[in-house]
Amino acid sequence: MKHILNAKNLTKAYTQTRGFFKRESSTIRALDDVSIDIEQGKTLAVVGESGSGKSTLAKALIKLISIDSGSIVFDGEDVTNINADRLKKVRKKIQMIFQDPYASLNPRMRIYQILAEPLLINQFQEMDRRKKINTIIEKVGLRIEDLAKYPHQFSGGQRQRIGIARALILEPKLVICDEPVSALDVSVQAQILELLKSLQREFNLTYLFITHDLRVVRHIADNVFVMQNGKVMEQGKTDIIFKKPNSTYTKELLASIPGNIQRKVKYGS
Ligand SMILES: Nc1ncnc2c1ncn2[C@@H]1O[C@H](COP(=O)(O)OP(=O)(O)OP(=O)(O)O)[C@@H](O)[C@H]1O
Ligand SMILES: [Mg+2]
Repeated sequence: MKHILNAKNLTKAYTQTRGFFKRESSTIRALDDVSIDIEQGKTLAVVGESGSGKSTLAKALIKLISIDSGSIVFDGEDVTNINADRLKKVRKKIQMIFQDPYASLNPRMRIYQILAEPLLINQFQEMDRRKKINTIIEKVGLRIEDLAKYPHQFSGGQRQRIGIARALILEPKLVICDEPVSALDVSVQAQILELLKSLQREFNLTYLFITHDLRVVRHIADNVFVMQNGKVMEQGKTDIIFKKPNSTYTKELLASIPGNIQRKVKYGS
């Protein structure tokens, strides 16, 4: 079993000031000694209530925010203190898919330009760009004709397909998905999850999948990572955690699933 990423003892604190004269301040431990290993080619779901530190963890791993302490090894390279030049190369291999694709797609750009942008930044020639764009648009279930359209001409599910195409165009190894289906209808959610699964098989992708929806976890994740108040509460294989949760917190999370998971609700088709 190979790990694409190992992070050890990550900590990140935020100081928040309160009160009219901002005299009161408190420290929030958004990450409190978090260690995480991500297995290559698999999906690791990060779950936990709002404010538990899921997005902070994702941002720390791709170095969008600094960490106070800890270390991160990505694809065999210690990236904890790398310089801007190296970071640019590493970023190519880690991409993100967001909850609201509309917010991350420039409304004034045609889909072709949206997909060409990361390729331009990485100096791909015109011919290679066109080839890659034509290939990826079909892989995500859209058509070449769609490349001439603007984001507002698509449905939510289709926009998320465009977001996925953009994330995959540079052929990353790790894709961090932050609530990628939360804003979609349940039937559309299932289609997008199936798409993500088939792309994972085809390109040997690794997903770090942040979600608060445990039905989604059950559907897509090999392993689960449970967070509360910036700490790791529990981690392990999805079926084992669902069958035998150790921490009270995980038990409560499972119990709160709409429709109750014990009934083995078949999600999607
Ligand atoms: N830039 C910031 N400045 C101050 N506090 C922050 C900042 N970013 C996050 N926090 C705090 O850190 C904690 C963890 O936030 P984070 O966004 O990681 O939670 P989350 O698990 O992603 O929640 P959600 O499910 O709502 O997206 C929260 O208490 C949040 O208020
Ligand atoms: Mg978040």
